[in-house]
Amino acid sequence: MKIKQVWGVYYSATGSTEKLVKFFSTVLAACLHVPVKFRPLNSPADRQPTQSFTDSDLLVVGTPTYAGKVPNKLLPAFQSCLLGNDTPAVAMVSFGNRSYDHALAELCFVLEQNGFHTVGAAACVAQHAMAAQLAANRPTNEDLQFMGRFAEKLAGKLDAADALPPPLCVPGDANAAYYTPLDLQGRKAVFLKATPKTDVEKCTNCKICAYVCPMGSIDPNHVTNITGICIKCHACIKRCPAHAKYFDDDALLSHIAMLCANYSAAKSYETFLSNFS
Ligand SMILES: Cc1cc2nc3c(=O)[nH]c(=O)nc-3n(C[C@H](O)[C@H](O)[C@H](O)COP(=O)(O)O)c2cc1C
Repeated sequence: MKIKQVWGVYYSATGSTEKLVKFFSTVLAACLHVPVKFRPLNSPADRQPTQSFTDSDLLVVGTPTYAGKVPNKLLPAFQSCLLGNDTPAVAMVSFGNRSYDHALAELCFVLEQNGFHTVGAAACVAQHAMAAQLAANRPTNEDLQFMGRFAEKLAGKLDAADALPPPLCVPGDANAAYYTPLDLQGRKAVFLKATPKTDVEKCTNCKICAYVCPMGSIDPNHVTNITGICIKCHACIKRCPAHAKYFDDDALLSHIAMLCANYSAAKSYETFLSNFS
């Protein structure tokens, strides 16, 4: 198959998915001796244009797992911003050491629906956006080396293939329900309405929080004001240089404590390759 351009497309609130997609796409492009370009889907403006791709493009599309699936508020972007025309694609999800549940299956399904052919997929462990001690510092260099070897293998298969292989089968069910977050006592943890607070003593009004909020929900003129939906992505918290943003919602904090108590054992990366004949 003749690939002429690799694209790394990602939604990434706290940077792990971006790192993985960029690394993997870059190695893939180098192995195929073609250029690589990137398309973030992070801000509302990023998600405006619909982009069409050809059968000589190769997309690497990445998203974090939220509640065991593709983040529900980002799903429309994955459904409408990317149009394939028999375009080969690699689906990639990151997850914070609990489980990717159905996220990879859902992402593969959306890509197939949009004219892409999934030729590879990966579920990648990455530091939990809500709890730095879960999968701390992952992806590590070893994780990236593992993904680099997968990119080399996939590039070899694509180079040698005459036609697209059959669609990929990955674990999970694209139509399954979202994971229900639990608290430390094992009860349903309801924190849908939680929003980040601002420590006004620390805040320097740099407005980075407003700029990085994927929902555009922080008022740049009054950064303590949350004007829209909060998806708990932690972008504002992780990227605030003054460490002025925080959550104080009891249910959310109890859920995070539950994750730390139960999901600290290191998980492995999983990769999937189509059946190239
Ligand atoms: C709202 C939310 C829900 C999450 N749900 C899950 C989950 O169901 N399973 C899991 O293992 N990690 C979960 N995570 C962790 C993220 O998938 C993980 O930290 C991811 O790598 C973040 O990607 P990013 O740095 O590109 O934003 C969740 C994180 C957030 C913020």
